[in-house]
Amino acid sequence: MTQPFIHLNNVEKTFKQNQTTQTVLENIDLDITEGQFVCLLGPSGCGKSTILNLLAGFEQSTQGHIYVDGQRIVAPNIDRAVVFQQAQLFPWLSVKENIEFPLKQSKATAQYIADQTEYYLEKTGLKKFENHRIWQISGGMKQRVALARAWVMKPKILLMDEPFGALDAQTRILMQETLTQLWQDNKTTILFVTHDIDESLLLADRIILMAGHPGRIIDDIQNNLPRPRSIENIAQQQEFIESKKHILEIMRKEVTRMIDYLH
Ligand SMILES: Nc1ncnc2c1ncn2[C@@H]1O[C@H](COP(=O)(O)OP(=O)(O)OP(=O)(O)O)[C@@H](O)[C@H]1O
Ligand SMILES: [Mg+2]
Repeated sequence: MTQPFIHLNNVEKTFKQNQTTQTVLENIDLDITEGQFVCLLGPSGCGKSTILNLLAGFEQSTQGHIYVDGQRIVAPNIDRAVVFQQAQLFPWLSVKENIEFPLKQSKATAQYIADQTEYYLEKTGLKKFENHRIWQISGGMKQRVALARAWVMKPKILLMDEPFGALDAQTRILMQETLTQLWQDNKTTILFVTHDIDESLLLADRIILMAGHPGRIIDDIQNNLPRPRSIENIAQQQEFIESKKHILEIMRKEVTRMIDYLH
C-alpha cells in the first residue's frame, strides 16, 4: 500500500524541563493527501506549533514516525517551507532580493530566477514595491514577501504558523485572498495553524481540531464549502453555520474538561 503524502504515525513529543517531563503531543495519527489545504485549529498551548516544528524538522518526535512524500523527516529542508507570524526577512535586502534569495542559493539559471521572481512579485501584489527595503514596508507587505519567498522554491509542503495573526482585520482579508489565489494557481500542500474558526472555514479543505494537556487530535472535519469563498458569502451558508456550531460545541466540552482538570 502506498503511504499518504504526509504521514504522522503515533507521534508523541515530550519536553524535559528541570526534573519534570511534559507530554506535549500524544498519539498523533494524521494522514494528509498531496495538494490539500489543512488547518490545525485549537487553543493556545495544545501543540499546534510543535506539530509544525516536527514536520519542518526543527524538533524530533519522542516516539512515532513522520514522513513527507515517503521520506522520514529528520532535519529541516527547503522542500518544507515555513511562514511564521512575524516574517523572517533580511532587512538589508530589497523586497525583490528577499524573494530571489533562496533561488540564488540553488542551481537555478538566471532566466528562471528572473521569471519566477517576477511571477511571485506580481501574484503577491508587490511589483510596485520591489525595490523597497524591508524596513520601508508595512507588516502586511512583509507577510506578502514571506509568502512569495516560501512559494518561489516550490516546496512540497508549506507550513504556516498563524501567519496572519498579527495583522488587522482588513489586511488579513486581503492576505487570505492572496494565499487562496496562490494555492489555487500553484497547488501545494498547506498545513496552516490558526485559532480562528472563521479563518479555518474560509481557507481549509479539512480542519484538524486539537485539544491540550496533552495535545491531541479530537476531530477531523471536512470543509466542502464551494470555492471561491469570501467570508461574507460563506457566513450565510448552512454548512458554515453548522460546522461552526459543531466546532464551538466540541470546544465548549473541552473548556469544561479543562476547568475540571485544573481544579
Ligand atoms: N522547546 C520547548 N521546550 C519546552 N516546552 C516547549 C517547547 N516548545 C513548546 N513547549 C511547550 O509545549 C506546549 C505546546 O506548545 P506549542 O507552542 O506547540 O502550542 P501552540 O498550540 O502552538 O500554542 P499557541 O497557540 O499559543 O502558539 C506548551 O506548553 C509549550 O510551553
Ligand atoms: Mg503556536
